[in-house]
Amino acid sequence: MRSATSRSLAPVAALALCAALLAPATRAQAAAPMKIGIVGAGRIGGTLATLWVKAGHEVLVSSRHPEKLQPLCRELGPRCRVGTPAEAAAFGEAVLLSVPYGATPQVGKELEKAWAGKVVLDTGNPYPERDGEMAERDRQRGTGAASAEYLPGVRLVRAFNAISWKSLGSESNRAGEKVGIPIAGDDAGALEVASRLVKDAGFDPVVVGPLARARLFDWGTPVYVRLLTARELREKLGIPAPPPGDR
Ligand SMILES: NC(=O)c1ccc[n+]([C@@H]2O[C@H](COP(=O)([O-])OP(=O)(O)OC[C@H]3O[C@@H](n4cnc5c(N)ncnc54)[C@H](OP(=O)(O)O)[C@@H]3O)[C@@H](O)[C@H]2O)c1
Repeated sequence: MRSATSRSLAPVAALALCAALLAPATRAQAAAPMKIGIVGAGRIGGTLATLWVKAGHEVLVSSRHPEKLQPLCRELGPRCRVGTPAEAAAFGEAVLLSVPYGATPQVGKELEKAWAGKVVLDTGNPYPERDGEMAERDRQRGTGAASAEYLPGVRLVRAFNAISWKSLGSESNRAGEKVGIPIAGDDAGALEVASRLVKDAGFDPVVVGPLARARLFDWGTPVYVRLLTARELREKLGIPAPPPGDR
């Protein structure tokens, strides 16, 4: 015969068992791995590919010479594959674009059909010494406007442009308050996807607003490559803190 104590604990134990059985499914649903195409798997693209594979995502890293990415992919294991930029654009539910800014107009034309309607995270920064005259012009008008012109038909988010590739590697999931990553875009759903990918890379997303506001974290601004926390970024950019549940 069961004791009064074990009888009174039974419903609690049953609830705990239910919770234990349900929890992994709920977690898995909330965090289903994504397929991410990486166009430009250099310093930034290669580092983010590594962080996202560690977070459980599948990546297709691409190059105009795919064979040179085989060693990286071997190291990353079965969740990594190698291909061409067009294959990365077709593979990804979201695509990271991380090429020298001067190549953005050409890549935008080449991949227009392959990534139409997809979330594209653009890390590019215009540097006149590398990218020529267009970089001067695009610094003036801001990268939100410039990239939107070069990348028609995608759900564009400016992201990961205001942190150095070395800090991406070293500060991911650091102890204490994480480093904040400013992002901007015109599409709310795309900003949600980008926020998740920022978190999965080990950082805190800060939505700065529509693409027009991406210029607030372009090269030369007070928040560019300063390793600010999300709280500090919001203070500097005058963005109200999100409700407690969203932090
Ligand atoms: N380095 C940083 O700390 C940092 C920080 C924030 C933002 N950014 C910006 O992010 C972008 C990438 O920077 P990165 O330092 O990662 O550059 P990177 O190491 O030079 O890598 C760029 C990649 O772009 C690819 N690429 C170049 N031209 C291309 C084209 N026409 N079509 C397709 N792919 C092309 C190259 O791949 P293949 O030659 O193999 O095809 C290369 O692996 C730049 O705009 C940069 O300003 C850099």
